[in-house]
Amino acid sequence: MKKPKELKVKPIKNGTVIDHITANNSLNVLRILGLPNKKSKVTIAMNVQSPHMGHKDIVKIENRELASNEVDQIALIAPKATINIIREYEIVDKGKVHLLNEIKDLLDCTNPNCITNTLEPVQNRFYVIEKEPVILRCHYCERLMEEAEIENQL
Ligand SMILES: Nc1ncnc2c1ncn2[C@@H]1O[C@H](COP(=O)(O)OP(=O)(O)OP(=O)(O)O)[C@@H](O)[C@H]1O
Ligand SMILES: [Mg+2]
Ligand SMILES: [Zn+2]
Repeated sequence: MKKPKELKVKPIKNGTVIDHITANNSLNVLRILGLPNKKSKVTIAMNVQSPHMGHKDIVKIENRELASNEVDQIALIAPKATINIIREYEIVDKGKVHLLNEIKDLLDCTNPNCITNTLEPVQNRFYVIEKEPVILRCHYCERLMEEAEIENQL
């Protein structure tokens, strides 16, 4: 019987590969990035084997180079993610994601009485007080948010 040829995910000519995503978190990564949109070509590999991580997810985005300030929020849920920029099939840049000290404009505070949940036009703002696993603290009411609550909102 013919052995099936081992197929890796199709190479992309230009774009971004996000590698070493915490297993099963690729959909949350895409939500943070606001992807896919109507024009984007996105390939996802979930729960693939990784020598370093046991299992991981990979996301490939064609024809778009993500800038580091766009991808850093990924570190909330995929702290080991690697960002590879591809041009003409070659990796021209490789970087890690860095969790910033403040997270703005992404998550809602879970405290219903928080000023950010009233009609006041106040922007959400959290401080990162633990990185792995993540714990955030609301700037306004000091409510703590843990990873599961963050994932619930994505
Ligand atoms: N042209 C391409 N199209 C799609 N994916 C690519 C392309 N080139 C590399 N990749 C993917 O980008 C990731 C990083 O590739 P690289 O060759 O740097 O692997 P690596 O040596 O294992 O790197 P690392 O040390 O970051 O794990 C891998 O998941 C690889 O499959
Ligand atoms: Mg590797
Ligand atoms: Zn709050």
